[in-house]
Amino acid sequence: MSIFAKDALKGKHALVTGATGGIGSETAKLLAQMGADVTITGRRHEKLDKLAKEINEAEPHIKVFSYAADLGKEEDREKLVNAAEEALGPISLLVNNAGVLGGGPVDELEQAEMERIMHLNYTSTVLLTQLIYKTMKQRKDGAIVNVASLSGLRGTHGGTAYAASKFALIGFTHSMALEAIDHGIRVNAVCPGFVDTEMGRTSVQNKANHEQRSAAEVIKASIPSGRITTPKEVANTIAFLLTDAAENIVGESVKISGGSVLR
Ligand SMILES: NC(=O)c1ccc[n+]([C@@H]2O[C@H](COP(=O)([O-])OP(=O)(O)OC[C@H]3O[C@@H](n4cnc5c(N)ncnc54)[C@H](OP(=O)(O)O)[C@@H]3O)[C@@H](O)[C@H]2O)c1
Repeated sequence: MSIFAKDALKGKHALVTGATGGIGSETAKLLAQMGADVTITGRRHEKLDKLAKEINEAEPHIKVFSYAADLGKEEDREKLVNAAEEALGPISLLVNNAGVLGGGPVDELEQAEMERIMHLNYTSTVLLTQLIYKTMKQRKDGAIVNVASLSGLRGTHGGTAYAASKFALIGFTHSMALEAIDHGIRVNAVCPGFVDTEMGRTSVQNKANHEQRSAAEVIKASIPSGRITTPKEVANTIAFLLTDAAENIVGESVKISGGSVLR
């Protein structure tokens, strides 16, 4: 379900990273439905092509620019931003959603794995944001949503690397929000619990393995609402934070967890 007006983001250019994944694809579709032109990115060409086609069919008046990039690479980040702005004009909405899961218990954690996760979830996100923020500042027009996690607010068993990267992303969100609001730019984060995507299903199964019970039992025991979140529900929250309806929401970390933070 979407509660948003068709023209809520008219005239905006939104860049959605991780658009080949569960949350990113739903977000790109919703922002297009709300009138934004969208740049979609990820590494998997065929998924990008499929999503671009889907948006074009559903929203023929919307411009979609699709660009495959590895966000861990400086050259790819620069080429992505240049190509997107050449195609659709200055980026005014940024959804930093690309992310990787991994790591493990601290005594098994290897440096390369720790750096892989931190590099994509934190460092590359900051560096991509820097490239886009320059123009947002000049134009005094921008809103940014970083897709963090409940793991950015509390620790999880086996989450030493992933949780650390998401805590870092939330620290970045809060600090940048203070700087950016001086230029009229809002920066916020969303913190989903388990979401029904490939990554989310892996997380539930990891917890189930650790607790030696079934995935269904984990969900029942840890989420008061009794179910995991849909990617669309995360997309709805991101979209809300990007609209003028959220004009005075600055530096927040919005939890979407079915109440699991209360347990
Ligand atoms: N699912 C959950 O339960 C959950 C909970 C809390 C937070 N989150 C966060 O939500 C975000 C989206 O996750 P999801 O559940 O939608 O997972 P997903 O379906 O696995 O999507 C992950 C996305 O990240 C992209 N990505 C990974 N490495 C990349 C790289 N080097 N360069 C460019 N893109 C890269 C992937 O694209 P390619 O593979 O095409 O490159 C994919 O589009 C992540 O930041 C995740 O940490 C998820």
